[in-house]
Amino acid sequence: MNSRSLVAIATRNDKALGVAYAVPTQTPDMAYTVPKLTDYSSAALDRVAGECIAACAVESGEVRTDTDLKSFRDRWLARKNGILTQINDLWLKGAPKEAKREAGIRVNELKARVTELVEKAHVAAEDSQAGESVDVSLPGIRRPIGAEHPVIKTMHEIVGVFQKLGYSVAEGPVVETDYYNFEALNFPPNHPARDTQDTLFIAAQQSKQQRERLLLRTHTSPVQIRTMEKMRPPIRIVIPGTVHRNDPPDASHSPMFHQIEGLAVDTNITFGDLKGTLDHAMKALFGSSVKTHFRPSFFPFTEPSAELYVTCFICGGSGKRGADPCRPCKQTGWIEVLGCGMVDPNVFEFVKDNGYDPKRVSGFAFGMGVDRLALLKYGVDDLQYFFQGDVRFLEQFA
Ligand code: PHE
Repeated sequence: MNSRSLVAIATRNDKALGVAYAVPTQTPDMAYTVPKLTDYSSAALDRVAGECIAACAVESGEVRTDTDLKSFRDRWLARKNGILTQINDLWLKGAPKEAKREAGIRVNELKARVTELVEKAHVAAEDSQAGESVDVSLPGIRRPIGAEHPVIKTMHEIVGVFQKLGYSVAEGPVVETDYYNFEALNFPPNHPARDTQDTLFIAAQQSKQQRERLLLRTHTSPVQIRTMEKMRPPIRIVIPGTVHRNDPPDASHSPMFHQIEGLAVDTNITFGDLKGTLDHAMKALFGSSVKTHFRPSFFPFTEPSAELYVTCFICGGSGKRGADPCRPCKQTGWIEVLGCGMVDPNVFEFVKDNGYDPKRVSGFAFGMGVDRLALLKYGVDDLQYFFQGDVRFLEQFA
C-alpha cells in the first residue's frame, strides 16, 4: 500500500474538518514514535500534533481484521504505555508552566481525533469482514420479479372459478398405484379401456401384486378416490396437477401435461347440476356469449359420460376467420374442452364404507386438459414452447 498517498488523504480530511495540520516531517513508512518536545510554541505544537494524527490515520486505514483492530487500538489507546498515554506524559506533564494550557488544548483535540480514527477502523474492519465494503453510490441490485407461467396462470383461473362456487382444492401423488389410477376407477385388470391411457409404468414392479404396482398417473381422476377415502360426503373439490402419457412430444402433444379434475357428491346430484355447473364455468372462463354442447362419450368411471364442447372462442362459432378457415376448431365452430359424467355407482362401491353408498349418494365428475386451453387462450401454435423454459417466450406473459 502507498502510505504516502494515505497521508495526503488524511491531511486533506483533517482540513475538511476545519483543522489544518502541517505536512508531517516523519517518514510515513516508519512506525510512529512520540517525540520529546523542547519547543512549545503554537507552530511547533501544531506540527507535532499534525504528524501524530497523520500517522494514526495511516494506521487506521490499514486495519482489516479483528486482530489488526486490536493491536491498532492497544497501540494508541492502551492506558499503560499507549501512544495517547505517552503524549500525556511527554507533552503535557513535561510542559513548562506557561505552555501547559496551550499543550492541554492540543492534547485534548488529539485524543478526540485518535478516538474517532479508532472508531473508523472498527467500522472498516466490520465491513471488510462482512465480505465487502459498501459503496453507497453504486446502483442497487435489480432483482427481476418473476411471473406466473401461462399454464399455471390458466390453472389458477380455472380453479378460481370453482372456488367461487364453494369448491375446495385437493391434490394427490404423481407416482400412483394401479389401484387408484385404474382399478378403483372401474378399469378392471385387462380391461381394454386401460389401453386408451398410454400409461408410463415404473420399472421392476412385477414382484408386487398388480394393484400395488407403480405408474405415472395418466389423469387426475385417482384423486377422486383418494379424497373420498378421507372426506365423507357431501364434497365439492377441484384437483389440479400434472399427468403423464406415453405420447411423443409434438406441437399438440406432450408426455407431461396438466389437468384439472372436478368432483361433486351429495344426495340428489343430477346431470342437470353437471350441465348447469359446467355451463356457468365455461361462461366465466371464456365470456358470457359462449355456448356449451354435450356429446355422449365413454369413461369407465362415469355413467352416463359426455364430452363438453364450447363455441370456438377464436372464430366465435362461425368456423371462419374472415375469408380463411379457423384452424383451432377445424372449421367446426366447436372446441372440445373436457370429459365428464355422472360418477359410476361401481366407483362408489370402493369407498362405500366412508358414507358413499351408491343407493344414497350421487355425483358428477369432469376432467379438462389445461395446456390445450392455455394454448388456445394465448394463441400459441406449439405446445412445446410451454415446456422449454425459454425466457424470451415466457416473459411475453409477464
Ligand atoms: N380422466 C379423464 C381423462 O383424462 C377425464 C374425465 C374426468 C372424464 C372425470 C370424466 C370424468 O380423459
